[in-house]
Formats: sequence, C-alpha cells, structure tokens
Amino acid sequence: MAVALVELRHVSKSFGSVYALRDINLALHEKEIVSLLGDNGAGKSTLTKIISGVHPPDEGELYIKGKKVVHWNAARARLMGIETVYQDKALAEHQNVTRNIFMGREITTWLGFIDGRRQRQQAEALMRRIGFTSKVMSPNSVVSSLSGGEREGVAIARSMFFKADLIILDEPTTALSLTQSQQVLQFVERARQEGSAVLFISHNIFHSHQVADRIVIVDRGRIAAQMDKESISAIELTELMQDLAKGKEVLARKGGAIDDISLEETNETSLSQTDRRSPA
Ligand SMILES: Nc1ncnc2c1ncn2[C@@H]1O[C@H](COP(=O)(O)OP(=O)(O)OP(=O)(O)O)[C@@H](O)[C@H]1O
Ligand SMILES: [Mg+2]
Repeated sequence: MAVALVELRHVSKSFGSVYALRDINLALHEKEIVSLLGDNGAGKSTLTKIISGVHPPDEGELYIKGKKVVHWNAARARLMGIETVYQDKALAEHQNVTRNIFMGREITTWLGFIDGRRQRQQAEALMRRIGFTSKVMSPNSVVSSLSGGEREGVAIARSMFFKADLIILDEPTTALSLTQSQQVLQFVERARQEGSAVLFISHNIFHSHQVADRIVIVDRGRIAAQMDKESISAIELTELMQDLAKGKEVLARKGGAIDDISLEETNETSLSQTDRRSPA
C-alpha cells in the first residue's frame, strides 16, 4: 500500500493522571474519509490535536507522508497540508465569506496590497466547487447570516483552497438540522473529490457511517476496533457502539480496567471484519 499520509505509532498522551490516549497506532491514507467514533471523553479530540500539532504526544511518533516529524506544532501542521476546522471557533462571525476564507493568508497584488477582486473571484469559484446552491449566499455574505451547515462549508472551502491533504472536522454536524447535516456530508465528499483526506468526528453514528470509507472506534484512549465501511451496516455499527457502552457499564460495576472489555483491542492499524465483534 502507498505510504500513509499521516501515521501515529504507539502514541500516548495524558493530562495529569488522566490517560487521554494509550498506545495509538493509526494510519490515514490519501483521499480517504475516516470516521472517528467514541463516547464523550474517549480521546477523539486529543487524537486530532496530536495530528494537528496542538498537543505534543508524551510517547510515540508521528509520521507525515512516511517521514517522522519532530518539533511538530500547529503552524508546521498547516504547512504540511493539515487543516483543522474547530467547531464554533472556525470563522469570524462578523466578517464576510471571502474574508473568512483568506484570513491570515490573503492573496496580494505585486505591491503587497490585498487583492480583493481576486479573492472574491476565488471565493465564488470555491463556493461553486464545494457545492453551494443557495441563491442568496455570495462571497460578500456575512458569516453570521449563514446557516450552520453553510458555515461548515465555508470552513471546508477554506481548507480546500489551501489544498489540504487532510481536513480534520471535529463534530461538524453537531447542532445542525437534518438538511444542514446532509449538506455538510456532501461538502466532505466534495473535498475528497478535490483531493483531500478527511478525518471526521461525530456522535451521530449514521452520519459517521454515511460519509466514511473507514471507521475507527476509540474507547477510553484506545482504538477498540476499526473496519471498512463496506463491512458493517449503520445498524450493526449502532449495535457495536451499544455493546461497547454496555461493556463499559459492566466494567464500571466491576471496577475493571479497559483490558477486561469484551471487545477486541488492537495495536495494529488493521482489524478485519471478523475481529470487530466481541468473542461472545
Ligand atoms: N486540555 C486538557 N486538559 C486536561 N484534560 C483533558 C484535556 N483535553 C482532554 N482532556 C481529557 O482527556 C480525555 C479525552 O478527552 P477528549 O476531548 O479527547 O475526548 P473526546 O473523545 O473528544 O470527547 P467528546 O466526544 O466529549 O468531545 C478526557 O478525559 C478529557 O477530560
Ligand atoms: Mg471531542
């Protein structure tokens, strides 16, 4: 297989006495949409923050396109084509779409002035490419006048403009209506068609399943299972997540540790379909 776009090897991270991630081995490949699933506090956001250079891992290594990176930080991650869309913090509400897309990375004229006309043209083209259909929305629209789904679209469009190899979306459909969520899932697919891989996090199992090529389940800091989307239906995935939650309840009563859990754990990046069920 081609070299992974991003690979984490034996990555661990704790905050004080809390182990947020333990011995994570995960590879993300070019133009792949990976859904990260897991309960509150499972470690999903921490995992994305290690990739995007916000948190350094305590242990383990990070490889970008096959090269081990050291002194990794958010600025370097962006330079290396990793764009993260943080919910709520993604956009400047009172600025228009164009300004939001180019903020901090403006297109300038040869004299060094911001080239407003070219930025607007580019923003317009980008909005078409990502699939905006709204007639009332334009590059001049102020972000606060957009729907939640459209806002996500602007943030994704910005990542696309900077030719992100990987776009990380942490809960982009939370608090969105059904239609708006579907719109966001379409934007994600469009970003992939344009050449980006996407790491997608949602508590909505159906959204995660619908958009993914591959699904990775995180449970209390570990990768509990991963599978190709084709190998599991959304209903089965829901059941699997429920099993995991039940395992947890039993575990909590017993005061047990993660290793007691009946789901297969893995240190490897691939777990076959047959591995995904508990031994029963
Ligand atoms: N900056 C931090 N300081 C201290 N503890 C943290 C920090 N970030 C995360 N944690 C802890 O690490 C664990 C994993 O948190 P994380 O935010 O990665 O979970 P998550 O899977 O994204 O959860 P959610 O679905 O609720 O967003 C939790 O126990 C959390 O409290
Ligand atoms: Mg989170």
